[in-house]
Amino acid sequence: CGIVGYIGHRDAYPVIIKGLQRLEYRGYDSAGVAIYDGSTINLCKTKGKVEDLKNKAEAGMALGGNLGIGHTRWATHGVPNDVNSHPHYSNSGDLVIIHNGIIENYDSIKKELINRGYVFHSDTDTEVLVNLIEEVKKKENVKLGKAVQIALNQAVGAYAIAVFDRNKPDEIVVAKLGSPLAIGIGEDEFFIASDASPFIEFTNNAMYLEDEEMAIIRLGKEIKLRKIKDDSVVYPIIKELQLNIEEIEKGGYDHFMLKEIYEQPRAIQDTYRGRLLADQGLIKMAGIDDNLEKFMNANRIIIVACGTSWHAGLVAEYIFEDIARIPVEVEYASEFRYRNPVITDKDVLIAISQSGETADTLAAIKLAKEKGAFVFGVCNVVGSTISRETDAGAYTHAGPEIGVASTKAFTTQITVLSLIALKLAKEKGVLSKSKYHEFLTELENIPSKVERALLSNELIEKVAEVYKDATNCLYLGRGYNFPVALEGALKLKEISYIHAEGYPAAEMKHGPIALIDEHMPVFVIATKKGHYEKVVSNIQEIKSRKGKIIAIVTEGDEAVKELADHVIEVPETFESLTPLLTTIPLQLLSYHIALMRGCNVDQPRNLAKSVTVE
Ligand code: G6P
Repeated sequence: CGIVGYIGHRDAYPVIIKGLQRLEYRGYDSAGVAIYDGSTINLCKTKGKVEDLKNKAEAGMALGGNLGIGHTRWATHGVPNDVNSHPHYSNSGDLVIIHNGIIENYDSIKKELINRGYVFHSDTDTEVLVNLIEEVKKKENVKLGKAVQIALNQAVGAYAIAVFDRNKPDEIVVAKLGSPLAIGIGEDEFFIASDASPFIEFTNNAMYLEDEEMAIIRLGKEIKLRKIKDDSVVYPIIKELQLNIEEIEKGGYDHFMLKEIYEQPRAIQDTYRGRLLADQGLIKMAGIDDNLEKFMNANRIIIVACGTSWHAGLVAEYIFEDIARIPVEVEYASEFRYRNPVITDKDVLIAISQSGETADTLAAIKLAKEKGAFVFGVCNVVGSTISRETDAGAYTHAGPEIGVASTKAFTTQITVLSLIALKLAKEKGVLSKSKYHEFLTELENIPSKVERALLSNELIEKVAEVYKDATNCLYLGRGYNFPVALEGALKLKEISYIHAEGYPAAEMKHGPIALIDEHMPVFVIATKKGHYEKVVSNIQEIKSRKGKIIAIVTEGDEAVKELADHVIEVPETFESLTPLLTTIPLQLLSYHIALMRGCNVDQPRNLAKSVTVE
């Protein structure tokens, strides 16, 4: 979910609506806004998108007022409908709240409140929380800030909340545990949001609440920061933001996803800029340089991640083992954290996360830290929770990724992880000097090769036209391109809702081959380096069962062209770097198919960009 708030001298409504649109990638089942003009609170909420909210609010609601809060929701408790949308009132109608996260013990609190006469209009844990705050406020006869603090000490779960009181038109109280919360500080005005994108055009000064902190934001006053647990005072650290506004707008593209696909040459370059010094034969990465011993002495590397980031982890497994000769295990964070894993202080854990907020990944990090492992983060969002919770890390520097289906985050994660593998390979002396130098030079060629791969866009659009009505698709690859097959299938599933499966090409004969007939499109990654002949025999097996073959091949390939129904070329590169190129046509293909099927490319149903629930 995404939350946004404003208090100051401007009209709050436009700030909130625009902010919600920027945060919509975080969840978009429903949305709501509450605006307070000092005498009346106007509240509007609806199932659906921020656009639906905007239409509804502008059709029927008084929009004036300098205090406002808004919410875009990804449903956890309660189906997405108007009633369950935020903001929520307390029973008296005095308190209004927005909440991102989950209150796990809401049921028992709710029962108690019902016993005391409270009435609930929604199924949400949030409505329980706002009434708990109200109950505490009345019973203890305390101000809003204190009541929030006491109530949160009774709540178990995760939250980022913003709440205001009808009797205090100059104040908003916020608190955080688990879900992110940033405060933008302007002149006589304050902004609240899940990330800085809603307020970047108004101010560059921001502070991020840490877990278990709350803030009382009052006009004309300094922000008061406190620890929720013991009320101790925290001194605010105000940061200057580097984000620029163009980065979070579509910049002429129809969709964020397409923009982000096309940004990859630049994003990959930004990832290695200043780190890869090919002429000096150096890779400089502070997070690794400062902790080299940890990596050199590691028995193994454990990689944890979710979704697309997990696929980047799988690619990294191949490169770490192949080039740096370090044993690697790659785990879904959600499985790792619950299976009592064997971890020692000789292990290095690498957590990969675009958002840096994924709850399962965060929990896996905490577990590994407790067990004494050294934890390294690979995140895209600067200042995100994971980047702060890890012992060290490296940012991907891909710039904001807004499209829910991850694209440039994936290729830049692979770039960072390749740099790390190369650096360690050199330090360990397991890669010849000449090979190491060739690698550095080839990495610098990748952005222009990605540009070349992008030139197939029109051809891919034609291929998409042929297969847009498929109901099932198979994706095959071997070695370094097996994770790419998984990622290709995931992209298609996510945005076009076609069932797709990724498989190691050689495993096909142990099951999926039974599915192949003339209706089954099979996307095969068959680049020249890496088990090429074997993949060609797999293609023959598909062909003899009348499957439709769409092959991703190396430029100039002839053999596969003979067999496949369609071929899409990518430039030649080192085997271990092929994922950076073979991924590109698969991203474009999913994009075009989803578009042709009338799907919402940037905001596919049921998905969220940043999954802060477990
Ligand atoms: C969600 C997103 C995916 C992403 C995954 C992991 O499911 O929709 O695109 O790969 O979370 O997110 P992270 O931010 O940790 O990389």
